[in-house]
Order: sequence, then structure tokens, then C-alpha cells
Amino acid sequence: MKVVSFYDTKPYDREVMQAAEAAVGWEFRFHDFRLSTETAATAAGSHAVCVFVNDKLDRACLNKLAAVGVKHVALRCAGFNQVDLVAARELGMAVTRVPAYSPHAVAEHTLALLLTLNRKIHRAYNRVREFNFSLAGLVGFDLYGKTVGVIGTGKIGRCTAEIFRGFGCEVLAHDPFPQQDWALAHQVRYLELDAILPQADILSLHLPLTPQTYHLIDERTFSLMKQGAYLVNTSRGKLVDTSALIQALKSLHLGGVALDVYEEEEGIFFEDHSAMGLPGDDELSRLLSFPNVLVTSHQAFLTNEALHEIARVTTENLSRSMAGADFLEGTVL
Ligand code: NAI
Repeated sequence: MKVVSFYDTKPYDREVMQAAEAAVGWEFRFHDFRLSTETAATAAGSHAVCVFVNDKLDRACLNKLAAVGVKHVALRCAGFNQVDLVAARELGMAVTRVPAYSPHAVAEHTLALLLTLNRKIHRAYNRVREFNFSLAGLVGFDLYGKTVGVIGTGKIGRCTAEIFRGFGCEVLAHDPFPQQDWALAHQVRYLELDAILPQADILSLHLPLTPQTYHLIDERTFSLMKQGAYLVNTSRGKLVDTSALIQALKSLHLGGVALDVYEEEEGIFFEDHSAMGLPGDDELSRLLSFPNVLVTSHQAFLTNEALHEIARVTTENLSRSMAGADFLEGTVL
């Protein structure tokens, strides 16, 4: 029987994948730990490994996987910065992803974060539960009429921009591959990043992490941002230089920051650290101490629709890989 080893799995992953397992008749081995060079030997006997955002498939890990006979790396996510694609190609290993499981899930979470932070819903929720009905300190701002910079207008960026347009915001966008027809239809204007920064009341990141986009938002970019601007990052943590972000918050240059991703989230996000706190990470602890910072733990994708689409596309590709057939269009890296 063909075996697929799954890494960094949680009960919600297993639930949807187990339903698929019964239908296809292969053995799915679920691991809750992440895949890395240290854990790669556990894939022995597997045709494929199925991994998520914080597994680490560098060259050393891929060498080990190839040595134990793994032929296919199936990412159950859209981002692929965690895989050394050059090494995978050299080893003859197929790498597939789920390019668009639900751009709406991530776009809607982006707005959920921004609205929660701006209108202080998280603070109001806690207060009211303690019968504190005071409104002091809960003043927010209208989104209507504000200028939003959407950086990256792929599937998620476009969805997010359209929602912002629905709120009556002016949307300025930046992307090396502008979608002019779409921009025209939605009254979105493309500009260079540096031209957007001084104008945007809200900056929302929707671009992939690559060597070129690492720390795109750093001390220089923060200094160009409008005083009091809000930053929302639901893309990848390493797009933002955390030390520079903390400085921009300390100097009160930024009005607020909502993050679903964090530069050093690997090993922290998706796990319960409540008993110990975060002794090994002073920067996240510092970020969480600001009243105008809201962090969720990489949950923007987490809707029923997205999980089922991830399971559907992943299973279909695993099935094609085992049959030696072509992968679904647009999923191969
Ligand atoms: P996509 O591939 O459809 O779009 C990315 C866009 O970014 C492309 O249009 C590309 O041209 C643009 N881009 C590349 N370099 C750029 C730069 N330097 N400046 C501006 N734009 C640039 O990707 P999609 O599906 O829209 O996803 C966007 C990002 O969202 C992903 O890369 C991933 O990191 C993140 N994501 C986060 C999730 C979460 O749960 N928080 C879930 C899914 C994706």
C-alpha cells in the first residue's frame, strides 16, 4: 500500500484528510511534529510527504527524503518559501502546492484583524464580560474615505482590495505585474511602493516571501509611512523587519499593527505556550505588550471552505503522482 507522511498536523487537518484517506485507500501517517533534516528519516517508506508553512525542506532535508525514497512533496498551502525548489528539481522530486484554496478566507481575515484592532473589539469584548460598559479608550476611525495601500495584487490582494473598495476606501496598489483591466474595473490605482507609503492610512501586504521581498518593510520603509498609519500583514512574517517594527511602534510613528504572521513564528505559532510563556522570544513578547498590536497565529486560511479545498487538491495530486499522471494545472512548482 502507498504511504503518505503528513507533518505538522493538527486535529482539524487530520479530520478532513482522514475522510479522503478512506476514499483513496492509501495509508496516511500523521505526525504532529514538523518536517526538517532531523525528522526526515520518519518519511521512510513514504511515496510522498505532505507539509505545511513551517516545515523546513532545505537541501539537507530533501537529500534525506530522496535517500529514503520520497518522490513527491505536496504542500498543503500556497506559499512555498519553505522548500529549496532548486534542490528538489535536482533530486527529481515533484513539488506541488495548493495555489488558491480560498483567497476570500485570507482577505476576510485581513479585514477582521483591521476592524478588530481599529474599533477595539477585542478590548470591548473583555470589558463587557466583566460588566465594564465604559467606552473610554475605544475610539476608532471610519474606514470610509481612507487610503489603503495594497502591496501585491495576486489572488488575495485583489480580493482584499475589492473589500476595501466596498468600504469606500481609495485603494493604491503596487505589484511588479499590474492587473490593469482589474484595476480599471475596481477604480484601483497602481503606483510605486515609495509613492504609496506616504499616502496610505493602511498598508496591507499580500505578496510572497522571496529573497527580493525579505524585510521589504524595514526602517527605511517605516520612515516613509504616514504618521499614525496602520500595517496589516497576513502574508509572511519575514516581509517585515520585526526590530524596525518595534522601533516604529515605540516612537509612536505607527498607529497600529495587525499580524497573522511573524518573522520567527516557526515553533511558536500553532502551539500552546501558555504554561511557559515565550522565554526564547523577546521580540514577540514585546510586540504583544503594545496595546495597538493584534496578533493571530497564522489562522487567516482557517475556514471550512479552505480546509476542504486544500484536502481536495492535495489528494487529487497525490493520486496523480501515484498513477504517474500529470498534476492539476497550476499546482506544480
Ligand atoms: P499570488 O501568487 O496570487 O499573488 C502574489 C502577488 O504578489 C503577485 O501578483 C506578484 O506579482 C506580487 N508580488 C511579487 N513580488 C512583489 C513585490 N516585490 N511587490 C509587490 N507585489 C509583489 O499569491 P496569493 O495567493 O495572493 O497569496 C499572497 C500571499 O499570502 C502568499 O504569498 C502567502 O505568503 C500568503 N498567504 C497567507 C495565508 C495565511 O493563512 N496567512 C494563506 C495563504 C497565503
